[in-house]
Amino acid sequence: MPFLARYSLLPACTLLFSVNFMAKTDENLKAAFAGESQANRLYTAFAKKADEEGLTQIAKLFRAAAEAETVHALNHLRVTGQVKSTLDNLGTAISGETYEFKKMYPDFIAEAKKEGNKAAALSFDYANQVEQIHANLYQKALDALKNKKELAKVDYWVCPVCGNTFEGSVPDSCPICATAKDKFMKIN
Ligand SMILES: [Fe+2]
Ligand SMILES: [Fe+2]
Repeated sequence: MPFLARYSLLPACTLLFSVNFMAKTDENLKAAFAGESQANRLYTAFAKKADEEGLTQIAKLFRAAAEAETVHALNHLRVTGQVKSTLDNLGTAISGETYEFKKMYPDFIAEAKKEGNKAAALSFDYANQVEQIHANLYQKALDALKNKKELAKVDYWVCPVCGNTFEGSVPDSCPICATAKDKFMKIN
């Protein structure tokens, strides 16, 4: 092979290799972010269970590991570059919530009902109803930001049973799951 031909092959191969390598790593970062995020929630649930069983030190260990998994998840997320300006992030959040309540959860609910899994259908239904509320709250924030304004200073409350999210005042009980308002969690 003439010298020049051999030389010209090298950058092409190098480029191909790095493109494949980068695509794979990007996939791996997303998978690792998902896995670490899930581990955080799983260990948080395990900690709560250990506390209920009176195993306070093991609960503490689960909480420590859960916190560490959040550090890992956020490190992976930062490398993916998915956290942008708040203006962009609100758009991303609205798209995600909208996909969930328009497509994902309706499909999941239908499948759960078809399979007779009532607990799953209820869990999906709670999330489905609340994602629409989240999309609306985010939209309000996005509209404010586009007009160069911040949102008015109000408290947010979350229903611990269905996740319903309230802005400012709260009703006596949750309109989705009927939980009494004294159980709602105030978000700071
Ligand atoms: Fe949501
Ligand atoms: Fe609720």
